[in-house]
Amino acid sequence: MFTREKVFDSEILRTKCNDKSIYQNQTFLKNIDLMLGTEYRVSLQGKGKSQTSVYNKKVFTPDKLPMDFDGADELKLWLTKRVPKALELLSDYNYDRRITVYRNWINKKYLNSCIIPHNHGSQKDFFVGVFYINYPKDSGKLFFTKHYDETKHHIEDYDDEDVHVVNETEGEFIIHRGDMVHGVTEHLNEDPRLSMIFEFCI
Ligand SMILES: [Fe+2]
Repeated sequence: MFTREKVFDSEILRTKCNDKSIYQNQTFLKNIDLMLGTEYRVSLQGKGKSQTSVYNKKVFTPDKLPMDFDGADELKLWLTKRVPKALELLSDYNYDRRITVYRNWINKKYLNSCIIPHNHGSQKDFFVGVFYINYPKDSGKLFFTKHYDETKHHIEDYDDEDVHVVNETEGEFIIHRGDMVHGVTEHLNEDPRLSMIFEFCI
């Protein structure tokens, strides 16, 4: 079900949804646009705009279930069948433990935007999953760095041996430990890159 890919002293898991109708049906895409709203942000390095539902009120909170909107049911089911297995592979998770979706949001990246390296905290048993809904040619690529360095904002700032580029594809779901430092290279297509992010705790 998953491809295991070594990344420095850790690993990421990859799997692909081959049925495009699950994640590109019109109802699903329309509701994602509603969640993103009309507010744009400029990337921290000052070029390229992006939208994210993490900053608005539509982000998942404990009183609103993740993916609880029309058109999302099939993808939610697809993920529900895979996430427990992924967490079992990445940790000592067993099925007696409950998985909590800590946060769930959408990122839409436009031409020239990128994401500087960061992690999602150092908490053990905390994981990040990304599903790639729209991923045109020359999209910004997910990359991991060997170490965190707050002075290095772009992939070009790192030595080649300190960077792992993922080369993800549309329809892929990638999951990794939350403490792994990762970023996204510059998006180089007029067609936006659209992804759905999850944070899981067990
Ligand atoms: Fe992230």
